[in-house]
Amino acid sequence: MSAFSPIVQSRDMRQLGINPNHWYVVARSSEVTSKPVGVVLWKQAIALYRDSEGQIHALEDRCPHRQVKLSHGQVVGNELECAYHGWRFNSLGECAAVPYLAANQKLPNCTIRRYPVKEQDGFIWLFPGDVKPSIEPLGLPEWEHLNYIATVSVINCNAHYSYLIENLMDMYHGHLHQDLQAWAEAVLQDIDEDDHRVDAHYTAQSYYKIDKIWSISQLFFPALRRLHPEPLDVSYVYPHWVSTLGKDFKIYCLLCPVSETQTKAYLIHFTSLNAFWRLHKLPMWFRRFIKDSLFGAAQKLLDGLVVQDVQMIEEEQQAYLQNCERRNYELNRALVSVQRLMRSQVERLG
Ligand code: FES
Ligand SMILES: [Fe+2]
Repeated sequence: MSAFSPIVQSRDMRQLGINPNHWYVVARSSEVTSKPVGVVLWKQAIALYRDSEGQIHALEDRCPHRQVKLSHGQVVGNELECAYHGWRFNSLGECAAVPYLAANQKLPNCTIRRYPVKEQDGFIWLFPGDVKPSIEPLGLPEWEHLNYIATVSVINCNAHYSYLIENLMDMYHGHLHQDLQAWAEAVLQDIDEDDHRVDAHYTAQSYYKIDKIWSISQLFFPALRRLHPEPLDVSYVYPHWVSTLGKDFKIYCLLCPVSETQTKAYLIHFTSLNAFWRLHKLPMWFRRFIKDSLFGAAQKLLDGLVVQDVQMIEEEQQAYLQNCERRNYELNRALVSVQRLMRSQVERLG
């Protein structure tokens, strides 16, 4: 028997579709205003906008009149108005007004697709499936929680989403980030998996320990960091990813696969203040002030990690496009589980 796991670089793995019957993240809440914004989720162009009550809507980004992008238009009341001839569409995707409709003409019956969309925990979650959603978005309970400081970094990579997920689940790549001191000496201990998720349990060494409020400065000053052992758990909760390093850090990666060769994702890093017990006695407004003032504390670290990871992931994609027959040699069995889950999620669609 070979020492290598049967991980595949086969044509279908890197051209695998997505299971649309999940909630994907298409934007940050702050990106969607009353000015429409165009996003792409798995080759579907979608126009997002906020109506006059602040409610988010998601319509197919295509004016049925002449097929131009509705996201170039504007919001008028609760309707989206096309930039070209000013036809308007309501939140159900129905044509609601044509400015030059003659008295003897009827509104054209040209409904466009609308998508279920939710605004939750700082992000816009969209359900691209044809069925009625029977599950809830993953959610980020730490986003509003006063004991967690958030940092957000955006990943835009020219690669299939499987490369990103495999990168995130393979903690042996701490080697790549040595200069940023993220984690070290990961060793895979155990894997749990079912039809929806893969949980890989590693042990590792962490550089950070947040036991005093000033420990946050470890994020800025490397000299304050000390290596110490911590459990490192990474989970692929289809289609997103979550990780915890000891008690102090939690990271989410929320995916928006764009196409077979492009993936957008939001990486959200939370630093926990739970160990700082005195904080809990402070007035709420002050705790909110601390949380808001420290927003982005891990920005340099997070952005640095993203740049390094994206370079590797894009090189993998390029190598695949140049020669898709070349096989990889993989020693991490967590990646076999991850590929199995990605495939089964798509295959179950029939
Ligand atoms: S193309 Fe949209 S109104 Fe004409
Ligand atoms: Fe990484």
